[in-house]
Amino acid sequence: MMETVHVGLAGREYDIHIGPGLLARSGELIRPLLKRPRVAIVSDENVAALHLDALKSGLQAAEIESVSLTLPAGESTKGWPQFTRTVEWLLEQKIERNDVVIAFGGGVIGDLVGFASAVLRRGVRFVQIPTSLLAQVDSSVGGKTGINAPQGKNLIGAFHQPSLVLADTAVLGTLTERDFLAGYGEVVKYGLLGDFEFFQWLEANASCAASGDMDARIYAVKRSVQMKAGIVERDETEQGDRALLNLGHTFCHALEAATGYSDRLLHGEGVAIGCALAFEVSARMGLCSQEDPSRLRAHLRDMKMKVDLSDIEGELPDADALIALMGQDKKVVDGKIRFIMARGIGQAFVTQDVDMTIVRTVLQQALDAR
Ligand SMILES: NC(=O)c1ccc[n+]([C@@H]2O[C@H](COP(=O)([O-])OP(=O)(O)OC[C@H]3O[C@@H](n4cnc5c(N)ncnc54)[C@H](O)[C@@H]3O)[C@@H](O)[C@H]2O)c1
Ligand SMILES: [Zn+2]
Repeated sequence: MMETVHVGLAGREYDIHIGPGLLARSGELIRPLLKRPRVAIVSDENVAALHLDALKSGLQAAEIESVSLTLPAGESTKGWPQFTRTVEWLLEQKIERNDVVIAFGGGVIGDLVGFASAVLRRGVRFVQIPTSLLAQVDSSVGGKTGINAPQGKNLIGAFHQPSLVLADTAVLGTLTERDFLAGYGEVVKYGLLGDFEFFQWLEANASCAASGDMDARIYAVKRSVQMKAGIVERDETEQGDRALLNLGHTFCHALEAATGYSDRLLHGEGVAIGCALAFEVSARMGLCSQEDPSRLRAHLRDMKMKVDLSDIEGELPDADALIALMGQDKKVVDGKIRFIMARGIGQAFVTQDVDMTIVRTVLQQALDAR
């Protein structure tokens, strides 16, 4: 079974195929894009060890030759040294303007390889084959590519849409439970920001998806991708609505900075905690009912996810220091932090009018509960 979501950006449109067994079909699906039957694949060591052979034989089935580069796994790969290495390797492999590069891995590989493709010979096409849940529902779609700087995450990059996305949902079977649940943080975000019915579906079905039910996984990925595609079509370069995708992220980025972008807190875990905080602030501002944050937190607890600041191990800075870290966010406009608040589950909106004393109180109480 294969589901398809189309991203209708005029001149840069592409399909996202979702379903199990797409690695085996990669050759037939990619072949129409190619001017010559040769591609370059960039992956990380975990994904390559588990799935590169399957991808290569899928390509071979359509007589597509491939060369591959395997980078170290982890967020620290997303910086200048591995980026330079990747671009120079692609040049050594004589990848030309008309060739296609394949990003095969999680969000780290997708972001780095997408950016390398954006600048190689002033831009070559690339295909995303996302292998983590986070990459399938979020980072592989929408064309944000880039690397981290010593000054902060994702500060160097380009908008460069992929030419095709293949989300093989069978590949999710080899993720650790922790990585799967971190990706789920972004899935639940879609329900929270714009689709109450999807949130209700997740309350009933997400634990089946987490324990491996393929139909539930396909639906969760498909609905997430449909929502992201719709938002990106309306606002590709984040002048307005695309900021809704940052629900929970202003809090998340402060927590990631406070924990040193380490294994203490994965991005998607920070998103889940950040969404719970955003709903708590929304409730205290009288925007939504107090039942909404409680309902969200109960669902995250059911999923055995991190929900509160007390679920983060080790020291955290105080509320003022966390607020200062929020101020470093890319989303600050004219010195004011842009928040995503909610009028209820499925009804998020962008605002700069947030009562910072409430934010401080919510953070302080969450820290005191540790
Ligand atoms: N471009 C965007 O719009 C966007 C959106 C959200 C996040 N991101 C970026 O995505 C990155 C996080 O992505 P991520 O969570 O996928 O991290 P990741 O790429 O580091 O993958 C997480 C871990 O899972 C492993 N892995 C991936 N697929 C696997 C599989 N099928 N089986 C076993 N192990 C597998 C990886 O090797 C890695 O160890 C961050 O850098 C973030 O900034 C980008
Ligand atoms: Zn995110």
